[in-house]
Amino acid sequence: MSSCTCGGQVEAKKEAALQKLFDRYRDYKGGLIPILQEAQNIYGYLPKDVLRRIAKELRIPLSKVYGVCTFYAQFHLKPRGRNIVRVCLGTACHVRGGSKILEAAKEHLGIDNGETTEDLKYTLETVACIGACGLSSCMMVNDDTHGRLVPEQVGKILDSYE
Ligand code: FES
Repeated sequence: MSSCTCGGQVEAKKEAALQKLFDRYRDYKGGLIPILQEAQNIYGYLPKDVLRRIAKELRIPLSKVYGVCTFYAQFHLKPRGRNIVRVCLGTACHVRGGSKILEAAKEHLGIDNGETTEDLKYTLETVACIGACGLSSCMMVNDDTHGRLVPEQVGKILDSYE
């Protein structure tokens, strides 16, 4: 009987990619941010043990690595969902009931703003404006903009993503 080893292969691939990254940036001053960006591309987020390895490889304190990660909004310390849902709470959307759209999304997904569902299918976030104020209230799912929303539509839209 053969057992599936895909998980192990995926991990090995990520490990090899991370190693390559270290080889490329080890002696490059100012390499921390590009390493963090690329490590996040490899893992989808920045796991703790990866941050520890980055600190060790670059010979800098772990606290400095954490400091940079928490300063820049682009870095994520927790796993993210396959689908990133961003509900707009900018002025135009707020006036047209953006917070009700957020409530509908929270309720449908069973998570709070900033959280990820357990099955890693969705991450829910808010944004200040997605540049489609004429279509308020708006919500983005990945690269798709959904506009002129009412709360009743939210569940169906979210369910249409795999
Ligand atoms: S305020 Fe929501 S798109 Fe601009």
